[in-house]
Amino acid sequence: MEGKLGLVGYPIKHSLSPWIHQRFLENTETIGTYSILEVLENELEQMVQTIRKNSYKGFNVTLPYKQKIIPFLDELDPHAKEVGAVNTVLNRNGKLIGYNTDGIGYLRSLTNHYPAFVEDRQKNVLLLGAGGAARAIYYALNQSGFQFIDIANRTIEKAQSIADLKTPVSKTSVLTLSEAEKNLDKYDLIIQTTNVGMKPNEDEVPIRLEKLQENAIVSDIIYQPIWTKLLKEAKSRGASVHHGHSMLLYQAQYAFEIWFGRLPIITNMDIQLKQLLEG
Ligand code: ATR
Repeated sequence: MEGKLGLVGYPIKHSLSPWIHQRFLENTETIGTYSILEVLENELEQMVQTIRKNSYKGFNVTLPYKQKIIPFLDELDPHAKEVGAVNTVLNRNGKLIGYNTDGIGYLRSLTNHYPAFVEDRQKNVLLLGAGGAARAIYYALNQSGFQFIDIANRTIEKAQSIADLKTPVSKTSVLTLSEAEKNLDKYDLIIQTTNVGMKPNEDEVPIRLEKLQENAIVSDIIYQPIWTKLLKEAKSRGASVHHGHSMLLYQAQYAFEIWFGRLPIITNMDIQLKQLLEG
């Protein structure tokens, strides 16, 4: 078998990753399986041993183990090292190498939906949130040359710690959420990475959009619900929106590329997954 794959995390019974990777395997004509490997924290090390022994091609890692998996791996790709979290592991002849595909996956999804926007690296970007996803996205945008990326978060110190990443390119200011709200008209792209608005708290928004530019893009990485309150408000103000399921697909696509060197086509899946999540 070419590819034994899996997902390590907890709880993951409702994960969409098996659906995605099964389709990738089919549409690249790769023979393989993708299993749910749900483990408690005290079983994590043992699971990694089992994965090694059973010659998996690789696996994904999700919450709550994106950082906890690191001591059990042999090597980290520089991007994962800088972000400090791993969501994809490649088994290269018994050596487990950790990668982080979230940031590049996000950038690919944005590029796919808004190709003209990403051409101009002078655009003003605002990142809402300073958790693991924000860190990965910041790093990828910075590496790809975006010049202006501000970060707003409830806890300022966490935003500052992202701004302190080695940043040869971007100029970054750290803001409170209310400062971001007041200065929103400055931004061309707003990337929402907090948990605010996620099921079951669908009536919440991290900031109000009164000052949103009409030609801005509002991007929310939450995909449950697919139409967060923030995205609905953005649309009603005439702005463009970018949905969270797309990052999920593209981070998976990049993981698949790391494992097999093949790039699954995902145009139809983007539409299918959106419909699935819209119910
Ligand atoms: P992930 O890894 O998915 O990015 P995380 O690391 O738990 O998730 O980060 C969650 C983000 O949502 C953080 O930016 C968090 O803000 P704090 O750093 O202040 O904790 C933000 N967040 C969660 N609940 C929030 C709320 N009620 N209001 C504002 N921000 C919130």
